[in-house]
Amino acid sequence: AIGFYPGFSTTSDVADDEQEGFDQALVIKFSHVVAENTPKGLAAQRFARLMSEKTDRRVKVEVFPNAVLYNETDEMDALMRGNVQMIAPSFANLSEHVPAWLTFDLPYAFLSDEAVQEAFDGELGKLLFDKLASKNLVGLSYWGNGFKQMTSNRGPLIHPSDFKEQHFRILPSKVIEAQFRQFDAKTTPIPFNEVYRGLESGVVDGEENTISNIRTKKFYQVQKYMTISNHGYLGYTVLMNKSFWDKLPGDVKKPLVEALEETAHWANENAIEMNRRQLEELRHQGGLEIHVQTPEERREWMQRWEPIYQEFEATIGKDVMSRIRRLRE
Ligand code: LMR
Repeated sequence: AIGFYPGFSTTSDVADDEQEGFDQALVIKFSHVVAENTPKGLAAQRFARLMSEKTDRRVKVEVFPNAVLYNETDEMDALMRGNVQMIAPSFANLSEHVPAWLTFDLPYAFLSDEAVQEAFDGELGKLLFDKLASKNLVGLSYWGNGFKQMTSNRGPLIHPSDFKEQHFRILPSKVIEAQFRQFDAKTTPIPFNEVYRGLESGVVDGEENTISNIRTKKFYQVQKYMTISNHGYLGYTVLMNKSFWDKLPGDVKKPLVEALEETAHWANENAIEMNRRQLEELRHQGGLEIHVQTPEERREWMQRWEPIYQEFEATIGKDVMSRIRRLRE
């Protein structure tokens, strides 16, 4: 059952009578796994504030960061059961439920921030949202984080051959698994908030992530090498349970859509700036040996990864693949 809070009703006669209908706020619980000072953490807080302002505090968005309520392995169930009303999983986590979402994990699918924004705002973004309905999900917004970099303890990651036999923590995405397989590396999916321990104890040698996640979860303390490869994109889909969404009255839906739109606009700019600034911080503080991938090295990685596009064409779907190919041109 969907957990509506006391004082909240979807019947129009009560909703019209706001004195009675909204004597207590509607609470929307928003759960995520990253730190507060990150692109997603700050976007969630901003959305909560905008929602409060736009509804005169009749809707209260409570944000739970750092997986304090749920981690990525159980947040989807929590959303389905109505224990939380909003989550913003990374595309890779969503791909476990709807395979077309693997598209965002394809290596070098996006070669610039502009291409990412075009995907979010254009046909590809809409098509992927449409594919959520069959899972009783509504995609409400795209929030970017940034491009992923490679990190490791065992050795610098310059050429594909450097990955051989190294063991990487991955998100549970078939495409990301294939990406490392192409480089003869081993992989294990590990929930985000256990990655630090996994790297520290040597269960895995390395991982891939955005600068923001590497910095705020202190992976740099347990990694020696980082390659600025920008080889994949990490972003989020702001999701609601469709049954919950369908029951929301218009005077909640409207400000919610507006607040999300304003947030996304700000968040996607902010994410670029945060990752840029935090890379400078990582550079200054030392400890990590940072290699910036050259164009020749990029071509080498791209070439080795090209077969992945063919391999996943059927799983992702031709409709989605033709759009990603167009964006890459
Ligand atoms: C990760 O698990 O590495 C990321 O998906 C975490 C996040 O939500 O940014």
